[in-house]
Amino acid sequence: MELKQLIQEVKPEGSEDEAVISQWVHAYHGGFKYFGQSRKVTRVKIKKALIGEGILKADGKISPKSKKKYGIKPRKAPKFKFIDLFAGIGGMRLGFQEHGGVCVFSSEFEKNAQETYFENHGDFPFGDITKINPTAIPDHDVLLAGFPCQPFSHAGLKLGIADTRGTLFHDIATILETKKPKVALLENVKGLLSHDKGFTLQTILQRMVQLGYQCNIDKTLIINGSPRQLQEAAKHMVLRSIDFGVPQNRQRIFIVLWRDKKIHHFKYPEPLGIQTRVGDILEDNPQQKYTISDKLWSGHRKRKDQNRINGKGFGFGIVNAESKYTNTISARYYKDGSEILVDQGGLNPRKITPLEAARLQGFPDDFIWNKSNVHVYKQFGNSVTVNVVKAVAEEIYKQIL
Ligand SMILES: C[S@@+](CC[C@H](N)C(=O)[O-])C[C@H]1O[C@@H](n2cnc3c(N)ncnc32)[C@H](O)[C@@H]1O
Repeated sequence: MELKQLIQEVKPEGSEDEAVISQWVHAYHGGFKYFGQSRKVTRVKIKKALIGEGILKADGKISPKSKKKYGIKPRKAPKFKFIDLFAGIGGMRLGFQEHGGVCVFSSEFEKNAQETYFENHGDFPFGDITKINPTAIPDHDVLLAGFPCQPFSHAGLKLGIADTRGTLFHDIATILETKKPKVALLENVKGLLSHDKGFTLQTILQRMVQLGYQCNIDKTLIINGSPRQLQEAAKHMVLRSIDFGVPQNRQRIFIVLWRDKKIHHFKYPEPLGIQTRVGDILEDNPQQKYTISDKLWSGHRKRKDQNRINGKGFGFGIVNAESKYTNTISARYYKDGSEILVDQGGLNPRKITPLEAARLQGFPDDFIWNKSNVHVYKQFGNSVTVNVVKAVAEEIYKQIL
């Protein structure tokens, strides 16, 4: 059977052919299960179709061109397998690979993020997670999900069950229920703690208990406690990028969940105790195009004055090499750069460059970013700080896997 025809047997709606192909190539090379295993799509048939397409050579070895395209590295036995949901550009993936994990499935539906992900990791993510049948996902030890925060229906309250239907969290829960990985790491904005007055957090944790997962918060408190008590108990799950050597004031909640009573308590990584400095991520000779215009600069200053008069926040944030940290880089940074401006003495301040944005999220300097700066800032702003994930991944590996 031809490759295209074989792909149609399993390809979910909203995913690209390349998602299936790259996943198969990696599974073939790594010796693990692949997406959409069925009698129709056997290993033998995949191998034949990949040879037919020139992705594999006639002897079954991966061609040098495909090795490059799919980022194939010498085979090593993985210490654990993980899946990367709401993958963005793969910040979570980098952190878990660092500790010997191999990614066996990824999903991300934004086209530009998919491209950046493919260029850097050699895996083209599957698309919309709501269209993916969990049974087709390969077995894994760890599920990673930095998912968008959505409100849950309050209807479930009366029935005494957590009602998560129609949300992306529901899709995560269904995968956990079907695949039963040992560990799930749910990452979100710190605001998840207070979202819908704590009801969102409570619903997530209650559903996790229903599925047999535990976390650092006692099961009885999750079931019987008030949203306020849960908010309080979950505060220690909030980690700061500056504690892991990155000069950015970014706080995110990392909910670590595990099943089968492997441990009673997860020890979150300790702050490294490093004094951060913005100068460490700045480029020596940034291009002049990052300097903001007179119009934009005067607009920022006017807004700041107005905000001060109205007793509102501070407006733009300006840093220099000696500052300890910047504000949080957000997905909207491309608009006017107001949250992080770099002082340039007598000149107007400048925006940070794509390389500085990458460093501010702990990405390596050789990370290939998108051709359009709008997407570069969106993608890094949406991502996680890799150093923080690395630290969490290390503890998960040591304590739970
Ligand atoms: C906060 S970002 C996660 C970033 C990622 N953890 C990283 O390290 O780069 C959330 C991502 O979820 C994606 N997303 C939202 N809904 C989705 C869906 N239904 N299916 C797949 N991806 C989705 C968004 O496009 C966005 O890139």
